[in-house]
Amino acid sequence: MLLLPPLLLFIIPGSSDLSAVITGPGEVSGPERGSLTVQCRYDPGWETYLKYWCRGAEFRICRILVGTTGSELEVKEDRVSIRDNQTSRVFTVTMENLTREDADTYWCGIERIVADPNVQVKVTVGPGSAAVITGPREARGPERGWLTVWCHYDPGREPYVKYWCRGADFRNCTVLVRTTGSELEVKEDRVSIRDNQTTHTFTVTMEKLRREDADAYWCGIERTGADPGAPVKVTVGPGSPAVITGPGEARGPEQGSMTVQCRYDPGWETHVKYWCRGADFRICRILVRTTGSEQEVKKDHLSIRDNQTSRMFTVTMEKLRREDADTYWCGIERTGADPGAPVKVAVGPATTTVSTTIPTPTTFTAPVATEVPTSSRNMSSLHPEGRSLLSSVHFLLLVFLKLPVFLSMLGAVLWVNRSQRGPAGGGPPRSENQ
Ligand SMILES: *[C@@H]1O[C@H](CO)[C@@H](O)[C@H](O)[C@H]1NC(C)=O
Ligand SMILES: *[C@@H]1O[C@H](CO)[C@@H](O)[C@H](O)[C@H]1NC(C)=O
Repeated sequence: MLLLPPLLLFIIPGSSDLSAVITGPGEVSGPERGSLTVQCRYDPGWETYLKYWCRGAEFRICRILVGTTGSELEVKEDRVSIRDNQTSRVFTVTMENLTREDADTYWCGIERIVADPNVQVKVTVGPGSAAVITGPREARGPERGWLTVWCHYDPGREPYVKYWCRGADFRNCTVLVRTTGSELEVKEDRVSIRDNQTTHTFTVTMEKLRREDADAYWCGIERTGADPGAPVKVTVGPGSPAVITGPGEARGPEQGSMTVQCRYDPGWETHVKYWCRGADFRICRILVRTTGSEQEVKKDHLSIRDNQTSRMFTVTMEKLRREDADTYWCGIERTGADPGAPVKVAVGPATTTVSTTIPTPTTFTAPVATEVPTSSRNMSSLHPEGRSLLSSVHFLLLVFLKLPVFLSMLGAVLWVNRSQRGPAGGGPPRSENQ
């Protein structure tokens, strides 16, 4: 070959068998900030030759950006890498972090002593792809509450996997939850994600927020090459002030029942209310919850009913056992930290309940309230449900023995009250106005 350079130079330009040595895709496109991959194939016999990727409209004077060493090792220069697979006789060029300026004419080339085999590849960088995904930039939630982030993506990305990632550096962030490419909700620990492929939006919800959750996060879309991502700064604020008041304490007789009423501020009518057990509100166990309506919900020996007109919900615990004594919470479900009011529930022995578990109608709570200590600043009302008592021996006892005693006691108390308080004495207790 070396003996015939003039002849070769004569033949090579426009020679069809040369361009057949190597084939490429002709054109490739990648999104701005994304990456693209080009694969060029070559004929048998060229395996150990150096391959390269070259930029410029004219092949003869194009600038080589990256080239192999004749082996299968990957070589990387800046944002461009090349790797030769000598088994499949394909070499692959990857350009990362694409910018608009990368759009140009490139060449796949194979180095040899004269007239390198080559094939032209036109590279375009897709417009608008920088905005493939947008997020809220910032999201804020209260401690113990939750927050929701909506991320929008461009049409065409529907079947891609979407994810929520934590960390300042997008490329090294920790994926907390990812979709399956479908619209199914996926939940991991306290974080859930759901894609709506009709509205091109996916929703991330972080629950039971802790202060340590505050960090840099990313809405991301998985794909070959650099994933598009939108940063979201998450901050966690202090919990919210109370919008719910309860009796503080409540007491019921063993085997009997007990009713607790909790009031809430206007605006919370249609929120789900619940009754939760455990000293720590954040991790208490929800025993029964409303559906956001006024319908009573019953579960085991518990029931809950919301009265949205009087903004009060009633929890009834029946068939009380000694083990039921604990700290409970009236709670309201909402975005952000749930408001809650603690209720200490005591269960007294069935026989000595006369003085503490009188079936007191709400309008007569004043005498009872005066016996309940400090925590009763909120409305307190204890009246066992007659429904459950009908079937019990205690009911008969109550009617024939305790009730007459109680009524006479009540009469006496009211008498004393009325004469002490004057005209206002018969009205509702002061605390009910809170
Ligand atoms: C080369 O390609 C073959 C066939 O596609 C594949 O099995 C092999 O793993 C590739 N080698 C390398 C180093 O990627
Ligand atoms: C891509 O661009 C970003 C921002 O310009 C830069 O931080 C990063 O190092 C680049 N990645 C590569 C592989 O060059």
